Amino acid sequence: MELPVDPMHLGRMETQMALQQELMAAISHEIRTPVSRLSFALQLLKDGLGQEPKLLRQEQLLASCDDMVDDIDEINDLVAEVMTYIHLEDGGPRIIFQKVEVSSVLENLRGQYADLHPHLNISLTPGLVDQVIDVEPVQLRRACQNLVGNAVKYAQTKIHLGYRLEGDFCVLLVEDDGEGIPEAQYGRIFSPFTRLDESRNRSTGGFGLGLSIVRRIAYWHGGRAIAGRSETLGGANMMIRLPIHQPTDSLPVPSMAHLADQPA
Ligand SMILES: Nc1ncnc2c1ncn2[C@@H]1O[C@H](COP(=O)(O)OP(=O)(O)O)[C@@H](O)[C@H]1O
Ligand SMILES: [Mg+2]
Repeated sequence: MELPVDPMHLGRMETQMALQQELMAAISHEIRTPVSRLSFALQLLKDGLGQEPKLLRQEQLLASCDDMVDDIDEINDLVAEVMTYIHLEDGGPRIIFQKVEVSSVLENLRGQYADLHPHLNISLTPGLVDQVIDVEPVQLRRACQNLVGNAVKYAQTKIHLGYRLEGDFCVLLVEDDGEGIPEAQYGRIFSPFTRLDESRNRSTGGFGLGLSIVRRIAYWHGGRAIAGRSETLGGANMMIRLPIHQPTDSLPVPSMAHLADQPA
């Protein structure tokens, strides 16, 4: 007897598998660079140490070790970020919403990044009304940090944090005066491992997972992440649109497969 096959379910499974394959390919690609740098550096060290008289001076050895530590850190960071992403994508724990004041979340972020980047002017919309929303505070903070972390990388001198209310939703905004994001890429940048600037290097580079994590967190809250252009600063305006109220303490987590057929 043949079991009935639900074509919708099959389609979802295929999408899920395609997403996982894409993820695996991207991870392998990312890991290859630091691993080949490590093996090249180790080979050089081995060759150098084997020579008599010694070819490598103490400083050269130390610099080479520092580079290798950087490469190992890079692999660790990648693994940590991928784990976060997979954990969120998998559903993770049931989330417990709490009431938080949006302006205090933004003020904390502003303080944190202003201390780290004194050359940037990071402002908050003045006179914000006290708005309380239901969120998972740790995840919201993570999502906001990912957006501000990007703004810090791309801004020339200014970043602006704020929010506005749209009916039952609160839209958090992170604006900057950098080059911005081409409109055609607004959807793409939320996919895992997407970077518009392929000239990633160790000092500036992320893995292109930050915004996919933001999107997942927004989606988890029944909201969404949106890219746009800042009217006032001219660069990117990255938004997280969240429901103000959550109907219950926790929500069932929808599968990531739904996202594949949805614009980000
Ligand atoms: N504020 C911004 N201004 C310009 N480009 C941005 C901004 N934020 C994100 N991007 C683009 O979106 C890409 C994906 O961002 P993200 O997922 O955070 O990855 P990462 O920061 O690791 O590169 C970035 O590589 C960059 O090309
Ligand atoms: Mg980032």
